[in-house]
Amino acid sequence: MAMGASPRVLCVIVLLASLLTWGSCDAAGDGRRQQLTMLPPRGWNSYDSFSWTIDEAAFLHNAQIMADKLLPHGYQYAVIDFLWYRKNVNGSGKDSYGFDSVDQWGRPFPDPERFPSSAGGKGFKHIADRVHAMGLKFGIHLMNGISTQAVNASTPVLDVHTGKAYVEDGRQWTARDIGITHRTCAWMSNGFMSVNTDVGAGRAFLRSLYQQYADWGVDFVKVDCIFGTDYSPKEIVAVSETLKELERPVILSISPGTEATPALAENISQHVDMYRITGDDWDNWKDVRPHFDVARSFADANKIGATALRGRSWPDLDMLPFGRLTDAGVNQGPHRSTNLTFDEQLTQMVLWSMVKSPLMYGGDLRHLDDETFNLITHPTLLKINHHTKNNMEFGDIHSERTSEPNEQSGRSDLANNGGTVLGLSTCSDKRASGWYSSSNDQICRSYGIQNRNASFCISKAKLRQTVDGVTMRNEEDQAKFHLAGMDTDDGCLDASASPWRTSSASRTPMFSTCERHSKQVWELTENGHLVSSYSGLCATVHSSKEGESETTGARAWTATGDKGEIYVAFFNLDTASRKIAVRVPDLEKVAGRKLARKHLCTCTEVLSGKSRSLMKGDISAVVSSHGSMLFEIQC
Ligand SMILES: *[C@@H]1O[C@H](CO)[C@@H](O)[C@H](O)[C@H]1NC(C)=O
Ligand SMILES: *[C@@H]1O[C@H](CO)[C@@H](O)[C@H](O)[C@H]1NC(C)=O
Ligand SMILES: *[C@@H]1O[C@H](CO)[C@@H](O)[C@H](O)[C@H]1NC(C)=O
Ligand SMILES: *[C@@H]1O[C@H](CO)[C@@H](O)[C@H](O)[C@H]1NC(C)=O
Ligand SMILES: *[C@@H]1O[C@H](CO)[C@@H](O)[C@H](O)[C@H]1NC(C)=O
Repeated sequence: MAMGASPRVLCVIVLLASLLTWGSCDAAGDGRRQQLTMLPPRGWNSYDSFSWTIDEAAFLHNAQIMADKLLPHGYQYAVIDFLWYRKNVNGSGKDSYGFDSVDQWGRPFPDPERFPSSAGGKGFKHIADRVHAMGLKFGIHLMNGISTQAVNASTPVLDVHTGKAYVEDGRQWTARDIGITHRTCAWMSNGFMSVNTDVGAGRAFLRSLYQQYADWGVDFVKVDCIFGTDYSPKEIVAVSETLKELERPVILSISPGTEATPALAENISQHVDMYRITGDDWDNWKDVRPHFDVARSFADANKIGATALRGRSWPDLDMLPFGRLTDAGVNQGPHRSTNLTFDEQLTQMVLWSMVKSPLMYGGDLRHLDDETFNLITHPTLLKINHHTKNNMEFGDIHSERTSEPNEQSGRSDLANNGGTVLGLSTCSDKRASGWYSSSNDQICRSYGIQNRNASFCISKAKLRQTVDGVTMRNEEDQAKFHLAGMDTDDGCLDASASPWRTSSASRTPMFSTCERHSKQVWELTENGHLVSSYSGLCATVHSSKEGESETTGARAWTATGDKGEIYVAFFNLDTASRKIAVRVPDLEKVAGRKLARKHLCTCTEVLSGKSRSLMKGDISAVVSSHGSMLFEIQC
């Protein structure tokens, strides 16, 4: 670094000269300021097709196909999803204990049976090298915090500066000193727990983890059990700070996004590069549908492409579950085809593009068919995904049914929408207040349902003596925490998210078997908030009728291309086909200029290639159930 000063001075001058050369500082060899996420990242992730059972051969095979076929279309990150350190043997599974490979410093390392090149302490170095040689970048999934096995084993914390055990205040610190045993991950409570980042040893541990990943050649980390209902802002910031100190630029993706809102992202989006804004998206229309509302709220809050750790931060709608897949929570690789119809896949791809979501393909690439390939590499969709601005839902649309609803799906929609909807949100949400303690030991909240008032009550159950191993001692704790349960056999109100709780399931009542875990501990505040002790989020309740029109009918989104072209996407969320129309004068308000002047503008439906005139004063089309159309207006 003797010559370090001059490239930096040069760099500042370059930056002053033109913001467009952002990133040219990297030539100076300092990766810390590299702007890697100016565009939403693309890649492949192993979860949808392998759950956690991926091995080295299958991963490298998928990576090679990605390099050959998808890299030319910007798909760059090859990501190994969760539990790469877990032995795939009888008895191991998503929340088993004791099957993980953990080194003498308490850090997980790849299961050598599944990843043979990692043997002898080499970690993912060899795989990362292979992936880099293909021209790709390498990513891994991580659970937030520290392994329970490490805490149980009291492994010392590594100080990367000395290469020895971390010493502070004259003593060596161990995993037991930094693991927060009463903050285990709600959906993997045997596997991982939070780390105390208030102490030097906690931060040293994070440094020892991420330094090792950087040494292996990791370019991307997806940190789970840290956002959404597992919201842990302090740890998000601590991980982000740790990454900033590394020489190697590593981009940060966080999850899950169950119950995420723009308010929840407010304090953290600048510390990460992408963050999930829904629960897991599987290949089911009911999972796809909620993304429309969530995406609109993040677009309205200007969160698409906001400032980030390494460029801009991208609200992430989750992977694309097309092609050959597995099921959630199984010990099994790809064995079935996507359940989505082609129309539904197209709709998902168009929405993800209009929202500028990261695009992570989830299907097994060894079985990638032409139809799926053409969909995920559609040139106009990919151009929209990277090079548009003003991406937003367009409210001024007119639509009516042009067919009878598909009876079967119509019925199941109704069944699913009946009753009371419980949810979680940031406590500032107006639906979060209004809880009160009623006389007969119940906690209630009133809400409106078709011009009348209804109330929803949960019984206050006696709190167990211990929660997550912490004894509820004094009067204050007694008053503060309430384990709320129904008086029936429904179990306890549960604020956890899990990778198996999908985006559609996130608004169904949240009851599960009563456990001694803070995910089931609630506090009723004086402001009428029912607060989860696990995430600090507040319970909400409303009638499902309230949200019904939100999830049916038609939607439109607009965006502006980098040559000034206007994109308009129509989506039909209904179970019947619909005629959807937007008026050109309304579009002109968004475009900020005239579009209908004679011969000057052309309007083409991108997916069929058919063009139409704007002179009629509107753009209208019949769109099939769950289908979409995309118009490009060029002037
Ligand atoms: C694992 O379980 C399967 C089915 O339960 C059984 O057939 C197999 O022998 C077991 N393998 C071992 C190594 O125990
Ligand atoms: C931790 O180790 C103890 C024995 O030292 C064992 O009883 C306990 O079950 C272990 N923790 C978990 C989560 O299994
Ligand atoms: C964000 O930070 C502000 C200021 O520290 C705080 O008042 C607010 O509660 C935080 N929001 C969330 C969702 O944590
Ligand atoms: C896909 O379809 C199969 C067969 O109908 C069903 O068992 C499975 O649950 C479906 N998966 C999803 C994610 O909807
Ligand atoms: C519902 O309750 C609120 C608050 O108690 C009250 O102001 C309102 O008039 C009630 N509405 C109906 C329809 O009873």
